[in-house]
Amino acid sequence: MRDISQHIMDIAQNSVKARANEIEILVNESPKEKYFEFEIRDNGMGMDEKMCKRVFDPFVTTRDKKIRHVGLGLSLLKANAERSGGYVELVSHPNKGTRVKALFKMDSIDCPPVGALGGAFLSLIICDSALHWRIIRKYAEKKYILDTCKIKKTLGVQKLSSVKMYSILKEYIERLESNVKHNGGEEHGG
Ligand SMILES: Nc1ncnc2c1ncn2[C@@H]1O[C@H](COP(=O)(O)OP(=O)(O)OP(=O)(O)O)[C@@H](O)[C@H]1O
Ligand SMILES: [Mg+2]
Repeated sequence: MRDISQHIMDIAQNSVKARANEIEILVNESPKEKYFEFEIRDNGMGMDEKMCKRVFDPFVTTRDKKIRHVGLGLSLLKANAERSGGYVELVSHPNKGTRVKALFKMDSIDCPPVGALGGAFLSLIICDSALHWRIIRKYAEKKYILDTCKIKKTLGVQKLSSVKMYSILKEYIERLESNVKHNGGEEHGG
């Protein structure tokens, strides 16, 4: 079974495949109110109304059918979110973009574990580092922002997809993730 961080990867990869060049990921985890929500917004090719209605059906996919006939990203997300008592919403407009929002109820025994969120952010940024990623991660009252344009500017680099950048970013994201979840966390503007 997929954990929530893998669902985030799946949905963000849909945005990459839809040829978005700006992808925003909002993650809001409330340990007190026991919910985990995320929203992924892209400026990719979008979908028409007919496709939006069919998109949660696993037999609907525009992926290469020589490789696999079913598209699982959205249908698995919907099944898992709803099993926990949550929901998934999708809004899309052709040539404008797509927004997918999911909510998981964390007090349900059927809620999947959050998983390695920092690792998911790192993989997305490194694998498609030419895109502008903006990730806003909230945990209770605290948050951090990862903005790849700002990171490139600060580090004075054009690309984030090198071995050196990988280890710098890995350490940076791990630190942000640990600060946001423990006392003494800093606010990171962006
Ligand atoms: N952000 C998006 N922008 C445009 N089209 C999308 C987006 N997300 C999904 N779609 C469309 O919905 C279809 C179903 O998506 P889904 O993630 O469920 O399966 P898939 O991506 O085709 O396959 P899989 O996720 O299993 O690799 C996609 O094939 C694509 O046509
Ligand atoms: Mg997919």
